Amino acid sequence: MKTVNIAIDGPAGAGKSSLAKGLARCLGYTYIDTGALYRSVAYEVLCRNISPNDVEQIKQILPEVKVSFRHVDGVQRVFVNGEDVSEKIRTNEISSAASIVSAIPEVRSFLLDLQRNIAKEQNIVMDGRDIGTVVLPDAAVKIFLTASTQDRAKRRFEEQKDTEHAVSYEEILNSMLERDKNDSERDIAPLKPAADAILLDNSGFQPNETLDSVLKIVGSRINV
Ligand code: DC
Repeated sequence: MKTVNIAIDGPAGAGKSSLAKGLARCLGYTYIDTGALYRSVAYEVLCRNISPNDVEQIKQILPEVKVSFRHVDGVQRVFVNGEDVSEKIRTNEISSAASIVSAIPEVRSFLLDLQRNIAKEQNIVMDGRDIGTVVLPDAAVKIFLTASTQDRAKRRFEEQKDTEHAVSYEEILNSMLERDKNDSERDIAPLKPAADAILLDNSGFQPNETLDSVLKIVGSRINV
C-alpha cells in the first residue's frame, strides 16, 4: 500500500514539531522528528570528544552510530546505540553541533535512507529542513513554516526557561541567527521551501491557530 507523507520544513523555533505532532495526532499518522537524527549524530560526536568540524573523524564513526525511534508509554523516544537520548539532545550545545554536522554530505546521506525507509512503511508527518526538497520530494502535502526571528527566539526562550537548559533570550536569539545562517547557506540540502510547498508565516499565532490552518490545507489536498 502506498503511504501518505506530509512534509513540514522551516527554520528553528517556527513551531514545526508542535505542528507536526498535532497534525500526526489528528490524522492518526506517525510523527518523525528528523532534527533528532542530526542531534543524535552530534551527541555521539561530542560524547567521543570529536569536534563537530572534524569531518574525517565524523565520517569514520558514522557506521557505529545506530539511531532509532521507539515508543515508550505511548511517547516517541530517540535512542543512540541503545541509550535513550531524548532529553540529552535538547541542549544548546547539541543544537549548535547538530547545525554544524548536518552540513557534512556523508552525515546527510547516512540519514537519508533511514528517513525514506520510515516513510515507506507508514503514513507519517515528518519535520526538518529538507523534507519537501530532498527526503520526500513526492510528499502529498508540503508546508514551509516560518515566523519572525524574534517570535521564534521568544518561543524557544519560553519553552526552555523553566528547564535545566535555560539560557537568556539574547543567547537564544544569537544562536538562532547563527543556525539560520548555517542551515540556509550550506551547499548541501539548504533550508529552503520546495517549489510546491505552501508557505505559512505564523508570527503572532497561537499554537492551535497554526494547526487549524494546516488541517484546512491538508483537508483540501488529501482525503482525511
Ligand atoms: O529541528 P532541529 O532544531 O531539532 O534540528 C537540529 C539541526 O539539524 C538544525 O540546525 C539543522 C539540522 N537539520 C537538518 O539539517 N535537516 C533536517 N531535516 C533536520 C534538521
